[in-house]
Amino acid sequence: MKIFIDSADLAEIRDAAQMGVVDGVTTNPSLVAKTGKSMREIIPAICEIVDGPISAEVLATDFAGIVEEGRALAKIHRNIVVKVPLIADGLKAVRVFSSEGIRTNVTLCFSPSQGLLAAKAGATYISPFVGRVDDVSGDGMDLVAQLCTIYQNYDLPTQVLAASIRHPVHVVQAAELGAHVATLPHKVILQLLKHPLTDLGLAQFLADAKKIPT
Ligand code: E4P
Repeated sequence: MKIFIDSADLAEIRDAAQMGVVDGVTTNPSLVAKTGKSMREIIPAICEIVDGPISAEVLATDFAGIVEEGRALAKIHRNIVVKVPLIADGLKAVRVFSSEGIRTNVTLCFSPSQGLLAAKAGATYISPFVGRVDDVSGDGMDLVAQLCTIYQNYDLPTQVLAASIRHPVHVVQAAELGAHVATLPHKVILQLLKHPLTDLGLAQFLADAKKIPT
């Protein structure tokens, strides 16, 4: 499973990239807003740090606007993936982008039927929002499983990108289900890494090392 970082914070992205665990980056308008910088500043800066798919989201919600904005985003860097909301005009735009060789990440997926249509339209990635489904008493991982099964049944090339990941268990479950990608907040990447026995073991080794004659 590929791991993307779900962040627009350059320090977080740099930190995770240095660990060698990051295959790509996803951003959204809320994450970019938190940085206090414009999309035009932040997206090229992210492309300098990670050499992999970088999702940049359109803000337009009408067909012509999405196509215009998506084409402009795609021109920023060869690694840009245009992130498009899962609405009718979004799917129309995905069809155009697909015919032009522009990769897309169809976002805000909350049902398998939405995911089926996104794949039919030619989405490169589909983003099921696992944590937000859990938040309303659903099971976000069921959605990931359904999408994986449907795409496998019909050899659809759209990749399942598990998004809105909140904790390490989500990551392990997504990997077990065969999701192609999981996009993780920086905090979850650090949580995946952490184990108390590693810390205890290291402390013991360092204490014992002091007893080694020099
Ligand atoms: C995905 O691409 C989104 O940016 C993100 O995963 C949403 O996560 P949230 O539900 O924690 O905001």
